[in-house]
Amino acid sequence: MDALELLLNRHSNPRLIEPAPAGEQLDTIFKAGLRAPDHGALTPWEFIVFEGEQRTLLGDILANATQAKGEAEETIEKARNAPLRAPMVIAVVAKVKEHNKVPRLEQELSAGCALMAMQMASLALGFNGIWRTGWFSFDRGVHQALSLAETDQIVGFLYLGTAQVAVRQLPERDPAPFVRYFGK
Ligand SMILES: Cc1cc2nc3c(=O)[nH]c(=O)nc-3n(C[C@H](O)[C@H](O)[C@H](O)COP(=O)(O)O)c2cc1C
Repeated sequence: MDALELLLNRHSNPRLIEPAPAGEQLDTIFKAGLRAPDHGALTPWEFIVFEGEQRTLLGDILANATQAKGEAEETIEKARNAPLRAPMVIAVVAKVKEHNKVPRLEQELSAGCALMAMQMASLALGFNGIWRTGWFSFDRGVHQALSLAETDQIVGFLYLGTAQVAVRQLPERDPAPFVRYFGK
């Protein structure tokens, strides 16, 4: 797939079924993530994969966090089932390091770029996905259950699989309202 065609037509898809990427294709997806821009070459990334049965482990973690907030049973069950919306979920974590020239924001942005690169690589390989966060990404209980350090931040959960139905092609956006030529 042509790079510009990919960038100009990319879209997410929340309706995902088997198959998820595996083997060499999944490796290619990780390699794309590892090419993310990275100030100071800190490699501040971790990709935690939940596939097949392991998705229920993530579901339990999300359900426990929801229960700890005192939510209703229906909300807890919704959280438990959330990871089952795709055959694979990858939690993308910014492993933020102490650095005098590279603040936390830059490392989190780098992890976000890694997530986007993995999503684009997935599209190029014929898969689809969606970047999700929600309060889970910021919850200490979820972080602890995933053995994250205090300084880590989940930048997103990349849901991956094969599009069940094609999404509607979105209209092209006019760049003009978003662009300002300074000094003109
Ligand atoms: C940081 C971040 C967090 C997001 N979190 C969610 C989310 O929790 N749930 C959701 O439905 N979409 C979320 N989105 C938006 C989707 O990933 C997607 O971009 C949106 O549905 C628009 O679709 P499109 O990518 O095809 O334009 C998030 C996007 C970003 C960048």
